Amino acid sequence: MSAPAVDQLHPSAGEPLVPTGTPAIVTEGLTKRFGSVAVVDQLALEVPAGSVFGFLGPNGSGKTTTIRMLLGLISPSAGEVELFGRPMPSASDEVLPQVGALVEGPACYPWLTGKQNLERIDAAGPHGERSTRPARIALALERVGLSAAQDKKFKAYSLGMRQRLGLASALLRPRRMLILDEPTNGMDPQGTREIRHLIRELAADGTTVFLSSHLLAEIEQVCTHVAMMSLGKLVTQGSLAALQGANAARVEVQTDDVGRAVEILRSLGLEAEVQEGNVRAELGDRRPEDLSHALVTGGVGLRGFTIERPSLEDTFVALTGEGFDVAR
Ligand SMILES: Nc1ncnc2c1ncn2[C@@H]1O[C@H](COP(=O)(O)OP(=O)(O)OP(=O)(O)O)[C@@H](O)[C@H]1O
Ligand SMILES: [Mg+2]
Repeated sequence: MSAPAVDQLHPSAGEPLVPTGTPAIVTEGLTKRFGSVAVVDQLALEVPAGSVFGFLGPNGSGKTTTIRMLLGLISPSAGEVELFGRPMPSASDEVLPQVGALVEGPACYPWLTGKQNLERIDAAGPHGERSTRPARIALALERVGLSAAQDKKFKAYSLGMRQRLGLASALLRPRRMLILDEPTNGMDPQGTREIRHLIRELAADGTTVFLSSHLLAEIEQVCTHVAMMSLGKLVTQGSLAALQGANAARVEVQTDDVGRAVEILRSLGLEAEVQEGNVRAELGDRRPEDLSHALVTGGVGLRGFTIERPSLEDTFVALTGEGFDVAR
């Protein structure tokens, strides 16, 4: 018998609960105090459905605490959470089966193998249909690259392998959203690449992916939207394109004809200047292809033409005036 197709293993999650356009996550005034300290302070998040949303901030800035509140694992001191337009935690039973989560590693039995742990987790859930279980487990293990280690005992798993198993448990059923707290924590570069690939694949199927990280360079490669936290407060949120656009990109031109290049760029309204033998200017709202075209048709021979966009870390530092260090 041939293996069942993927969409047979993952039958439709049912009618969408809400019309498209409703954000996957909305929080208002979300606050968590420990003693007198607000470690999450008046958070107003909006996560568009279908986005890959990077939740960024230095260690201790309140990411995990926020995620625990989103999932109803701890209760807020103040404020509200809606997932797919439904209030949490009152709509938990309805909403949470559609949300796969990974928060600081799953609770697993050390003496069982990875595969056996998934069997237990699936059987414990309300919708883990028995007939499709072996195939769903095999698929989840494969997606996280754990097939070869499935029969190893959990206690012998490395940190990265445990993290992968946690992801696999979130993938046992079709999900409208995945909420992943530092999903690549402890993974090697190969594992990190695989998870990026997996996230893109899930997003292409329409799954909203909300993931936290303190590794900004990693997030930059996979997210469509980001929010940045600092000391429990939201510093900024929005599409990656808007955030990076807001923080001016620069163009650098390498040419033997520096004078002519400056002249042409200035005629286009750029404040071009020569630095270390190269011509540099802020790009503003100009399209790079228009500039290179103007230079070439103006007779400037190009040895190099580079657009430098500020990194997310540059953006964070520009917004907070602070480095990306442990918050408290
Ligand atoms: N149960 C608790 N009691 C007291 N303080 C806490 C508790 N849980 C978290 N905190 C504090 O809240 C702040 C935010 O912690 P949180 O775990 O949300 O940060 P984080 O952004 O996830 O950091 P990391 O990147 O290191 O995972 C920290 O200063 C932490 O010490
Ligand atoms: Mg954390």
